[in-house]
Amino acid sequence: MKLLITGGAGFIGSNFVHYWLKNHPEDEVTVLDKLTYAGNLRNLETVVDKIKFVKGDICDRELVFSIVKDIDTIVHFAAESHNDRAAMDPESFVRTNVLGTFTLLDAARLNGLKRFHHVSTDEVFGHLPLGAGFFNENTPYAPRSTYPASKAAADHFVRAYHITFGLPVTISNCSNNYGPYHFPEKIIPLFICNLKEGKKVPVYGDGLYVRDWIHVEDHCRGIEAILLKGKIGETYCLGGKDSEVSNLELTKKLLALTGRDESFIEYVKDRPGHDRRYSIDYTKAKSELDWEPRINLDDGLKATVQWYADNQAWVDKIRSGVYQEYYKRQYGKDESLTL
Ligand code: NAD
Ligand code: DAU
Repeated sequence: MKLLITGGAGFIGSNFVHYWLKNHPEDEVTVLDKLTYAGNLRNLETVVDKIKFVKGDICDRELVFSIVKDIDTIVHFAAESHNDRAAMDPESFVRTNVLGTFTLLDAARLNGLKRFHHVSTDEVFGHLPLGAGFFNENTPYAPRSTYPASKAAADHFVRAYHITFGLPVTISNCSNNYGPYHFPEKIIPLFICNLKEGKKVPVYGDGLYVRDWIHVEDHCRGIEAILLKGKIGETYCLGGKDSEVSNLELTKKLLALTGRDESFIEYVKDRPGHDRRYSIDYTKAKSELDWEPRINLDDGLKATVQWYADNQAWVDKIRSGVYQEYYKRQYGKDESLTL
């Protein structure tokens, strides 16, 4: 395959690049990433010689069209992805998540690509009450805040391109990921880094919000299964291995793993429009793709805390902002779009 991986310098995208090169070394991989605050070329440091890296914006039609000429498959991760930022700057979410996805779809259609895989989120389904129900492929869309609203719009465009133009698309809607290279603004890496530095951790509201945690490697395997065995035009929901916990339970696990006590918990003001609970039923992926998550939360969290301990330099460079210099040093230029 000749893959274009958008957002490949971000958290899940970079894990996917590593996963794909390891398991499909014969394939050609191009990464297109704007290197926003969330993009970090250091995430690809060990494979940078095995890929073509293009610094650029998925909304840049000319650039995107020039890249896809040499591509047969797009795996689309690039997005604005953080709910707290979406409440402050919704426009950038609409731009990248909706217009960017549209631009990629149009390029895929007009260049006859063999596959467009769109990486989406379970948040498009809205939220669930505590202790009851789950999301699956038949759950109606009901996003409640601006990030999932922009992802829902993108999902609709992906489906519309399949129905209207016959573009060979697939979509995955996945629950909360965690693992290596997770930017320390999301709860798990933020709390690990704070606790390690002896700082308190800010638990929003009552702390009883529930997430269905999936290790990023399981997510990457799920996308691989969809690319290799998924049916064109279909959506697959991917979720964690018995890993539904409240934020408070999660925090207590992280306190135990970092040797801190509950005095490090600080209850802070709640997130506006905070979704109460997400939970995925992945029966379809299991029966049609023979995929299921393998990594349980306790094992995954232990390995993740260890990864952050082993990669303190990576954390320090992000916390100090130095990570954004790496692209310039690696490629000797700052603004150029192609390498
Ligand atoms: P991330 O924020 O860590 O990374 C996003 C990447 O996209 C960054 O490298 C950034 O530089 C790049 N990017 C942003 N705007 C761009 C643009 N206009 N042009 C080119 N590149 C751009 O995100 P993530 O957590 O890795 O999420 C990746 C995808 O998976 C997103 O589409 C997200 O909606 C989806 N998703 C995430 C989760 C999760 O728990 N993190 C769960 C389900 C689905
Ligand atoms: O469900 C999939 C989604 O998971 C992805 O689509 C998003 O891109 C990804 O960011 C994630 O969204 P969440 O909003 O669930 O992740 P976050 O880590 O921001 O928050 C997880 C929970 O922890 C949520 O209930 C809010 C809470 N929280 C978060 C932070 C950053 C806190 O209590 N304190 C915090 O400091």
